[in-house]
Amino acid sequence: MHAIEKQKSPVQLLAESVLDAHAANFWLQKINPLWSVSQPLGKIIEIQFAATDTVSLKIKVNRHFQMGKAGQHHPVIVEIAGRRYERTYSLTQLDQHHVLLTVKRIAQGVVSQWLCNTAKVGDVLQFGEPYGDMTVTPEQSALILLAAGSGITPMYSLIKALEYSNQVATQAITLMYWVKQHADAAFANYFESLAQKHANFKVHIFHTQEAPCDARLNQQHLALIQDLANSTVYACGPSGFVNTAEQLFTSAKNFKSEAFSLTPIISDESGFINVTLTKSNKTIAIPKGQSILVGLEQQNIQPQHGCRMGICNKCSCNKVQGATKNLVNGLENTEPGNSLRICVNSAQTDLIIDI
Ligand code: FES
Repeated sequence: MHAIEKQKSPVQLLAESVLDAHAANFWLQKINPLWSVSQPLGKIIEIQFAATDTVSLKIKVNRHFQMGKAGQHHPVIVEIAGRRYERTYSLTQLDQHHVLLTVKRIAQGVVSQWLCNTAKVGDVLQFGEPYGDMTVTPEQSALILLAAGSGITPMYSLIKALEYSNQVATQAITLMYWVKQHADAAFANYFESLAQKHANFKVHIFHTQEAPCDARLNQQHLALIQDLANSTVYACGPSGFVNTAEQLFTSAKNFKSEAFSLTPIISDESGFINVTLTKSNKTIAIPKGQSILVGLEQQNIQPQHGCRMGICNKCSCNKVQGATKNLVNGLENTEPGNSLRICVNSAQTDLIIDI
């Protein structure tokens, strides 16, 4: 009997024939832009308008792409004018090989502007590993999904996953979604069609800047919830929205949240704080009231970071001593020897951190 040698793919053959992975990727991508020896890549194959200033990019991913769970975030890396930028987005799995990336254009947002205005079918994006724990588990308790603005993207991903697993037909789900105007509501038709199909799926879309204006999230919205004590609440939106949700839904069975941006801080704090960086052996003065990450960047220090939203933990460092304030929930921390996420904390006193 002859052993049949397993045929090697062109990717493997080329990868083995060169010494350097960068060179291998370069030549592989001349043949097919999704081929790579190791990089998770995706090619835009369709672009759809999702809402005002919002597009959905359908992306075909390669075999190195890690799909992640619904509700998680992916680092998305794009090259614009020769410079690499990394941002964090929540993707929706469409099938084994395709995901949907929905992006809202942000004024001054280099990457969101590029993805909404310039990206075209055939462009290739690079991805990092998914992270985040705002995911659903097979459970019986009712789900309350609270979203404001772009906070709808992880909720859409969760609802799609619940639809694929048929939980949407059996589990009580209430989606409450705040936008400024009707035209800002992404996936509104999809949510409404689910509500028509499944009596246990309820959707409420609130328009806060279109007459008759709806109220922002407040105590009265609790009246729309049937059994809060046995419900799991997910909230995603600007930090002010998430903070309000956290205060209102204290009696929920579980509460998970993610603030995707920091609400501009109205601070009467002035002056500077000294931050000593033990590994770099430097002391830098940064303004009070803003994130330590931004303060250091303004002084040309480039600490490692990822999402800039307090989710990925990439910016965490050890705080040796000093007081900090969490810019998302306002909590102060004076304990020494703590892990500190510098993207969402400001310095309240002189600080020593291991960077
Ligand atoms: S950069 Fe992601 S937690 Fe700070």
